[in-house]
Amino acid sequence: MQNVNEAPTFIHQFDQDEQIISTKDLSVFYGGSIQKLFGARLQFKKKTITALIGGSGSGKSTFLRCLNRMNDKVARVDGEIWYHGLDINKNNINVYQLRKNIGMVFQKPNPFPKSIRENITYALKANGEKDKQKLDQIVEESLRAAALWDEVKDKLDKSALAMSGGQQQRLCIARALALKPEILLLDEPASALDPVSTSKLEDTLKQLRTDYTMIMVTHNMQQASRISDYTAFFHLGHVLEYDKTENIFTNPKGEITEDYIRGSFG
Ligand SMILES: Nc1ncnc2c1ncn2[C@@H]1O[C@H](COP(=O)(O)OP(=O)(O)OP(=O)(O)O)[C@@H](O)[C@H]1O
Ligand SMILES: [Mg+2]
Repeated sequence: MQNVNEAPTFIHQFDQDEQIISTKDLSVFYGGSIQKLFGARLQFKKKTITALIGGSGSGKSTFLRCLNRMNDKVARVDGEIWYHGLDINKNNINVYQLRKNIGMVFQKPNPFPKSIRENITYALKANGEKDKQKLDQIVEESLRAAALWDEVKDKLDKSALAMSGGQQQRLCIARALALKPEILLLDEPASALDPVSTSKLEDTLKQLRTDYTMIMVTHNMQQASRISDYTAFFHLGHVLEYDKTENIFTNPKGEITEDYIRGSFG
């Protein structure tokens, strides 16, 4: 197998006006000096789904968490992250506001132990929104966008914890959407779900592409090839290849990418 430090990289680039967020020379160090991400340079296109793939420990979550400053307390992050003309890796940005614009959905559904409605209104109320009619409207809009409304419209005041895992995950998406983000980061959002729930979640994500940009870590190659427009391949903390998903899966340029894709599809 080729040495990663000598491996060529094949990184697709977009025109400036197509990009919504981009990183330049992004490196992450844990415990002060242990480097786990090496100069990632990636640009993400507006209103697309990008899959981040690669073996366990290759740095996918590490990279994803940088994009809304979730690594602030756990790692040193060097480099630039450009979003609306601003380097959001600089200290003087409002991280709270940033996370409203760049929402995150985690591997395990994590609804609050509250009603379905309160899960969605919680952050809005904390931001001072009191208008009941407006809150009701956002609850409905968000649940519709997350393809959950029809399933839960008659039990909005029931506990979110009584929902199935797949419904909980779509509720977590609805909760993020209620804050009107531009970008959703998803870290293996379907890995705790059964195949039927996974398929519903994938349909939901595909519908959301009309209005949102999504960046999603997945271990499931079939899933990446089914729903993503672009795919980035991570290997030992390096992004080795980034291209249209169909190119990555049918005609990868790098030897290491090809080995990984072939092995994963088995
Ligand atoms: N908080 C942390 N402290 C120290 N090391 C960490 C921390 N988080 C991740 N790492 C290390 O950084 C490397 C990359 O981890 P990361 O979680 O980004 O990988 P990943 O590609 O998401 O893997 P997986 O597919 O297993 O989720 C691994 O070696 C991991 O052990
Ligand atoms: Mg991970």
